[in-house]
Amino acid sequence: MTIASPIDPKGQDLSMTDADFEIVSQYAHKHFGLAMSSSKKPLVSSRLARRLRHLKIDKFKDYIKQLDGPNAENEKNELLSLLTTNVTHFFREPHHFETLKNDVLPPVLAKARSGGRLRIWSAGCSSGQEPYSIAMLLRSMCPDVDRLDAKILGTDIDPVIVRKAQTAKYPMDELAQLPHEYRPKDLTGDTMPSSITSMVTFGTLNLIQPFPFKGKFDAIFCRNVAIYFDNPTQQKVWSAFQRALNPGGYLFIGHSERMSGPASAHFKTAGITTYINTPAGGDT
Ligand SMILES: C[S@@+](CC[C@H](N)C(=O)[O-])C[C@H]1O[C@@H](n2cnc3c(N)ncnc32)[C@H](O)[C@@H]1O
Repeated sequence: MTIASPIDPKGQDLSMTDADFEIVSQYAHKHFGLAMSSSKKPLVSSRLARRLRHLKIDKFKDYIKQLDGPNAENEKNELLSLLTTNVTHFFREPHHFETLKNDVLPPVLAKARSGGRLRIWSAGCSSGQEPYSIAMLLRSMCPDVDRLDAKILGTDIDPVIVRKAQTAKYPMDELAQLPHEYRPKDLTGDTMPSSITSMVTFGTLNLIQPFPFKGKFDAIFCRNVAIYFDNPTQQKVWSAFQRALNPGGYLFIGHSERMSGPASAHFKTAGITTYINTPAGGDT
């Protein structure tokens, strides 16, 4: 069966068959951990049809061949961008930043002031608003943070969005909405100042693959990312985060995501979509 299909300007019928959809969804699951039920087919079909027109390809099966061809890496990233959203904003879900300020950072800053490390990871950071929000909050609490061994890491699977995050450039109206107490005093134009960007390191990382880190984190923000994964993949990612956190470290997840699987035994609920790593046993 095929669904009502987009027609390209030359009148060609870019219809996606169930078999085409199945191949794309298996590819997306294998490479990105994405779960795509058949209800997503109309959306996927129309987004991909646009891409096919751009590439001047008139059959889905020829597009699918490109995903294994010489230009595969580039097309893989394009496909990922078509299948996911990069929507984000500064200080999204403000209650997490309240917890960061009141509960997470005071003891971690004390540890860093006596020579320890402070590490926070924004996993699935999109265009950078999340890690820069963390950096602004941290700077506001600790103006001399440069003296400490304090680092914020921002990673995303999509190299294009990571490059955008690194430019630290945002629309002026978006920057105008920064909360007054966290707005950097040296922010004048449309680009985050170096007092903030110097605190954040970016990298490309696929969360469904093993993490490359040696050290552990005091807090991980992974919000509105696992929503795309199927349940077994989510559970693997929660367990990987649990192993990547210090004892007492915090995990913040998105408003429509929930902790589940074996990691639940180690995470104690500490607020809305907020969990503390308690290796001896959690409560969820
Ligand atoms: C909706 S944005 C969330 C941004 C931010 N965390 C927030 O809550 O505002 C989702 C991000 O997850 C990224 N993403 C999707 N699958 C991923 C994966 N397997 N590994 C890492 N990042 C992934 C996407 O590229 C996108 O930038």
